Amino acid sequence: MKIAPVQHDILRAVQTLRAGGLVAFPTETVYGLGADASNPDAIKKVFAAKGRPHDHPLIVHVASTMQLADWARDIPAAANVLAKKFWPGALTMILKRAPAVSDLVTGGQDTVAIRVPSHPAAQALLKAFGGGVVGPSANRFGRVSATTAEHVRSEFGDAVDCVLDGGDCDVGIESTIVDVSRSRPALLRPGWITAAQIESALGVSLAIPDAQSPRAPGTLAKHYSPRTPLQMLEADLVIELARSLAAQGKRVAVLACSARQPLINGLVWRAAPADAAGYAHELYANLRALDAAGCDAILVEEPPRAIEWVAIRDRLTRAAAGAEAEDDD
Ligand code: TXA
Ligand code: MG
Repeated sequence: MKIAPVQHDILRAVQTLRAGGLVAFPTETVYGLGADASNPDAIKKVFAAKGRPHDHPLIVHVASTMQLADWARDIPAAANVLAKKFWPGALTMILKRAPAVSDLVTGGQDTVAIRVPSHPAAQALLKAFGGGVVGPSANRFGRVSATTAEHVRSEFGDAVDCVLDGGDCDVGIESTIVDVSRSRPALLRPGWITAAQIESALGVSLAIPDAQSPRAPGTLAKHYSPRTPLQMLEADLVIELARSLAAQGKRVAVLACSARQPLINGLVWRAAPADAAGYAHELYANLRALDAAGCDAILVEEPPRAIEWVAIRDRLTRAAAGAEAEDDD
C-alpha cells in the first residue's frame, strides 16, 4: 500500500537532515538511510548506524538531473541519455566526482554514485531539502534491505531520528548501477531496469566490470542475508531436502514460486508471486518473515532464468553466500 506522507512529515524530515540527523526515506526500490551529503558528521552517523566500513561508498540522491553537475564532473553524453530515459527512477549512475564531494561519500574513490528517485515522498523530501542526501539501503550491514517503514524501525529502532513512511516500495529490490565514468559503460549491479534496456537506450553493449572499474563493494560476496542459512535449489530438490531435514528433526522454511506445498511436519511455507515484478516486490518481506520464523534452514526455490529475473537471482545468490562468504553491505 502506498502512503503519502503529509507536508508536516516532510518538514520534520527536512529539519532533521538540516540538523545533521538521520532520516529513513522511501524510494521506489528500497528504503534509504538518509543524511545530508554535505555534512561529514551526519554521514559518519550513517556508517555507525549501519555498522558499515568507511570504504564502502554511498549513493547521493538528488531531486533532479539538473543537480548532476553539483556532484559530478566531465559528465559524458551516455549519462545524459540514461538520465533522460530512466530518471527519476530505479537507476544509479557512477560518474567522476566533483571536487567538493566528501571522501566519506565516495570511499576515497574518484567517482560518485548518483540517483534521482521517483517515489513521491523521496521527491518531496529532496525538493524541500534542496541538496543531496546520501542513502544506503536502510538495513544493517550485510542484512536484508527494508521495503517498509516497519522493516526500518525493526532494523534501527531509535538510532534513526525520523522515518518517513511511504508505504511499501513498488520495485522491492535495489537500483540498477551503471558506471559511466569510463569510456565504455559497465553494469555494476543488476536491478529491475535490465542490462538490455540500458544497452538499447545507449546503443552499445555494456562492458563487464574489470579490475579498473570503480569498486562497488556492496556488489560482492555476502549481502542481503537473513540470519538463518539460506540455500537456493530447484523445486524438486527443495522438497527432497525439506523432507530429509525434517526427518532429522530440523525446522525448515521454504520460499516457493512454482512448487506445491508438501505435507511435512512443522514446515514454514511461503508462496511467492510467479511473475518477476510481484516476486521482487515481496522478496525482502518474504525473506524477513521466513527469517523471523526461527527455522534451521531457509530453502528458496530457484526462480526462472529469463532476463527479468536476473536481479532477483543475483540477490538470492548473495543471500545464499551469507554463511561462508566475506561480509558486505
Ligand atoms: O536502490 C538503491 O540503490 C538504494 C536506494 C536507497 O537508493 N540504495 C542502495 O544503497 O542500495 P547501498 O549503499 O546499499 O548500495 C549502493 C551500492 C554499494 O554496492 C556501493 O558499493 C556502490 O553502490 N557504490 C556507491 N558509490 C559507488 C562508487 N562511487 N563507485 C562504485 N560503486 C559505488
Ligand atoms: Mg545495501
